[in-house]
Amino acid sequence: MKNKDTGDYITAADLSGVLPDIIDWAIRLKNDDRELDFKPLNGMTIGSIYEKPSTRTRVSFEVGISKLGGNALTLLSNDIQLGSSETIADTAEVLSRYLDCITYRCFSHSDVVELAVNSSIPVINALSDMHHPCQAAADLMTIVEHLDKLDGHIAWVGDGNNVLHDLVLASAIIGIDIKYATPKGLEPDQKIINLAKDIAKENGVQISQSNNPKEVVTGASVVYTDVFVSMGEEHMKSKFDSFEGFQVNKELVDLADKNYIFMHCLPAHRGEEVTDEVIDSKNSVVFDQAENRMWAQMSILTYLCNYDAWLAYKELL
Ligand code: CP
Ligand code: NVA
Repeated sequence: MKNKDTGDYITAADLSGVLPDIIDWAIRLKNDDRELDFKPLNGMTIGSIYEKPSTRTRVSFEVGISKLGGNALTLLSNDIQLGSSETIADTAEVLSRYLDCITYRCFSHSDVVELAVNSSIPVINALSDMHHPCQAAADLMTIVEHLDKLDGHIAWVGDGNNVLHDLVLASAIIGIDIKYATPKGLEPDQKIINLAKDIAKENGVQISQSNNPKEVVTGASVVYTDVFVSMGEEHMKSKFDSFEGFQVNKELVDLADKNYIFMHCLPAHRGEEVTDEVIDSKNSVVFDQAENRMWAQMSILTYLCNYDAWLAYKELL
């Protein structure tokens, strides 16, 4: 059953008040060396629908669910009736009779919203064209793990895409300033930025936009980029031309704080948005981000599927 207080996780704003606790919980679980028999998803089955390929999301969900005592059921879109001969609403009703939670990676963001509206169990957005909230939870977890050496802002260099949208929302919630540089015409969605700015105002966070990578990277504690062309945009090859000067290379990161960390949600297109020299440098935390997908999602799954167990573990901290 969907818990009326915790609901779904469709965008990072859905965890607005609780994201700092979700992250603390995940960090504690990651570092917990007590012999706890903690299986909050015992007897539950979580189904994951994929309309697009995935390495990190699929494996981190399957392994995380298993660690929490649950069963993971992966549903590739070509193998199920969704889309070709069954509506999203009917699929939601049917899956709600079998499963305890659904994760959904889809093309159109409205599809994951429709699935959530018609499901009586929690739905987690595992990436849509507009949002990637599980990535943002893992990214902010990674930043919090490094906070002792970071006192500047997050700099985003690249497309105004799904990963940026939730990174801005999550930064506003956690309380870290963010400056993003996107090419002209590829700015993020203004409605999402306005929502982030409302949250930021309450938390004393600055959000600023530019079309100049050097301007945002100067003095940054975090330098973040993503692919120039996302899944589902492969036909938009001309988009590449807009990214002249947006590669994250040594010349650019030399403008950042000397203790900066480099972040990328992966998969990376080496030689396009980032050079090997930067992604393989000692400043790069990209594989910590990938690992943290699992811990952050374990926290989110427990929060949505077994809130009492989530609270009880929080009390144990
Ligand atoms: N970062 C991320 O979502 O990776 P996958 O596409 O491999 O799941
Ligand atoms: N922006 C990328 C993120 C991949 C994890 C995409 O949507 O393809």
